[in-house]
Amino acid sequence: MAIRPILHIPTPCLREVAKPVGEITDEIKVLVKDMFETMYDAPGVGLAAPQIGVMHRVIVMDPAGEEEEPRPLAMINPEIIWLSAELRVHQEGCLSIPEYYEDVERPDVCKVEFLDEQGESHELTCEGLLSTIVQHEVDHLDGKLFIDYLSRLKRDRVIKKFQKIAKRAAS
Ligand code: NI
Repeated sequence: MAIRPILHIPTPCLREVAKPVGEITDEIKVLVKDMFETMYDAPGVGLAAPQIGVMHRVIVMDPAGEEEEPRPLAMINPEIIWLSAELRVHQEGCLSIPEYYEDVERPDVCKVEFLDEQGESHELTCEGLLSTIVQHEVDHLDGKLFIDYLSRLKRDRVIKKFQKIAKRAAS
């Protein structure tokens, strides 16, 4: 197992669409393990494969609070099949946009279909924090980031800030 470097904006692959996983090979199983290790190390509550530069539709999450038992959840080829009309607001952050947090409004409940690491198919109804995390991580697989839900002013400001940081690091 290995902790893999987490890419930050404006890395182009964070804006690309990830490919579905065809067969769950040992490589995919290692990827899932590495993603958990990377997420817990960060620490974060969710991570999508494109955030470590792997363009596969794989996400890992753990919605448990600090005092709770870990609840690791990995989803391969997740697909949101239903969203509630009721919304909830949650202050979101993203490991690819470090130390930046903003309120985002999303459907309160979602239903997601996915494969686990054994290739078993599942359908899960997610509420509250888990619903927010699933929607945020599935967005990553389509090259979408939580800052896309903010006003253009706020989004442009944070993108500019990270472009500057990247420029400084490269020079
Ligand atoms: Ni994120």
